[in-house]
Amino acid sequence: MSAVSLGKDLIGLEHLTPEQIQLVLDTAEPFKEVSERQIKKVPTLRGKTIVNLFYEASTRTRISFEFAEKRLSADTVNIAASGSSIVKGENLVDTARNLEAMRIDMVVIRHPSSGAPGFLADRIPSNVVNGGDGKHEHPTQALLDILTIRDNLKTISGLKVCICGDVLHSRVARSNIWGLLALGAEVGVCGPKSLMPYGLEELGVRFFPRPEEAIEWADVLNILRLQLERMNAGFIPSLREYNRVFGITNARLERAPKDILVLHPGPMNRGVEIDSDVADGPHSVILDQVTNGIAVRMAVLYLLAGGKPDLAEGAKG
Ligand code: CP
Repeated sequence: MSAVSLGKDLIGLEHLTPEQIQLVLDTAEPFKEVSERQIKKVPTLRGKTIVNLFYEASTRTRISFEFAEKRLSADTVNIAASGSSIVKGENLVDTARNLEAMRIDMVVIRHPSSGAPGFLADRIPSNVVNGGDGKHEHPTQALLDILTIRDNLKTISGLKVCICGDVLHSRVARSNIWGLLALGAEVGVCGPKSLMPYGLEELGVRFFPRPEEAIEWADVLNILRLQLERMNAGFIPSLREYNRVFGITNARLERAPKDILVLHPGPMNRGVEIDSDVADGPHSVILDQVTNGIAVRMAVLYLLAGGKPDLAEGAKG
């Protein structure tokens, strides 16, 4: 039996060991099959109550967590900031303590402030899972990205993965960088200097000022959207200019010396960071990422609930 565990919460990948990351990826494998069944349900988390507490908009993450919870037979409640007492000024810890008074077991939280899930995890006994916090981390997104890369290229160690676009505002980029480096990948970033955070070089991340150079180097491109809602200054001249210089187009991919795998965490801005020909083309595994998201989230919930990896097979029921 493996001695590796995830602990109480999943806040980010920065402090996870390679063994913990592998544990989630390997535990996700048997859960993939559950979603292919006619009756997509196993009894693994029967009796557990999970709250999805979303202070920010989400399509993929919230729905994927909800499917994962339901397929594990947990009882789930969705709370959006609008429509709850959060709009009346109730603070995060009071909201969570009131939920705990209703005897919940886990909270999945998305929050615009970096650090909110960690803050909450230190204050409540329920397991806390970060569904994306500000510009900090989005660990389950990176885990599903890494699983999708591993499915297609059979390894992570030694691969060259370039994260393209608005890295500065991206929690997905941060979680991917930590996770990929931990598993032995080489990581690059590409985009305008104005959208790159300081300190990446110290982590061993390469900077490519032009997509042509990134495409020449990489096995995998993970393309990020411009987070216009988080931009409070003129980071780029215009969306059209950004697409002209940095957009990932078929014309650019065709010059690649090898087949490149294309990922995007969504939501996409078609015609800005990625052209439709690429998003819907043969290099793209964007919808496979979404499918894998459910298995990865089932694995995370299962492991945090105390599941053991070698029981995952049996837990499928
Ligand atoms: N990738 C992602 O986090 O998408 P949502 O914002 O739709 O959850």
